[in-house]
Amino acid sequence: MPSYVYFRQEIVPLSEAKIGVMTNSFHYGNACFEGVRGNWNSQQGQLHLFRLKEHYERMLRGCRLLKIDLPYTIDDLCRITVEMVEKCGFQEDLYVRPVAYKSSEALGVRLHDLEDDFFVFAFPWGPYLPDKVRCCVTSWRCAREVPRAKINGLYVNNALAKSEAIENGFDEGIMLTSDGYVAEGTGENLFLVKDGRLVTPAVYCSILLGITRDTVMRLAKEELGIETEERIIERSELYTADECFLTGTAANITPVSEIDRRKTGDGEIGEVTRKLQQLYFDVIRGNDAKYIDWCMPVYKK
Ligand SMILES: Cc1ncc(COP(=O)(O)O)c(C=O)c1O
Repeated sequence: MPSYVYFRQEIVPLSEAKIGVMTNSFHYGNACFEGVRGNWNSQQGQLHLFRLKEHYERMLRGCRLLKIDLPYTIDDLCRITVEMVEKCGFQEDLYVRPVAYKSSEALGVRLHDLEDDFFVFAFPWGPYLPDKVRCCVTSWRCAREVPRAKINGLYVNNALAKSEAIENGFDEGIMLTSDGYVAEGTGENLFLVKDGRLVTPAVYCSILLGITRDTVMRLAKEELGIETEERIIERSELYTADECFLTGTAANITPVSEIDRRKTGDGEIGEVTRKLQQLYFDVIRGNDAKYIDWCMPVYKK
């Protein structure tokens, strides 16, 4: 089944959408992107886009920073995305990738005096990480000076860190802040479970403010009565936590079994992590009426 893309104000087959080699953002990373999941519910015959509006709110914050001026409201962006995904017709889990960028075919490092554009495409995508992951702390520190958005250029550091982790035999890398405190995974936020409470790096710890992070904190509080402490986390705490898991649109909630060759807890999926996973998967597939507003249905019934 072919994928489609909304490109230059039309929905066209993905294979037909091309950008020129001189496109400014390709050279300088001055673009911002999002990642949204479409979760297939076979019983309902429905595909749910999870927290689509919040993803576009974050993208538009990035656009303001990068002086990308798009002629779309959040509602326009959501409508365009639903139309494009509906046209794809997938009946499986997928990933949606919106990108806002400097489309002028002109070189020169800057943000001003350049044209802006936006495209969004979807493709089938199952699990991003294994069921549980072995992590290492990477030697690449988090470059995220601008934590509020997914700025393309910032991701080169994450790519360096991810490949370092994989080439050293791990599944994922954990990045530290420039001060040596725990920040996040290369595409995920990080949580520890300590004495029945959740702990996660605070917003000032060079993290992306993840939408899954927010979802987990809300489900933990409302459904399990567990508060989350947002604070500085020292590297050594990674090795002594009862449980650890990563959160992200691609990774969902992924348990960590080991960090730097030290077992996390007993190396199996912890009790709090498992409860949160169950809640979260019900919510994102549109099976929990209380949180149905977070799910945007794609197919008309
Ligand atoms: C560096 C980084 N941190 C955290 C996240 C998690 O963010 P979200 O839950 O909004 O997907 C991502 C997701 O793509 C990411 O790239």
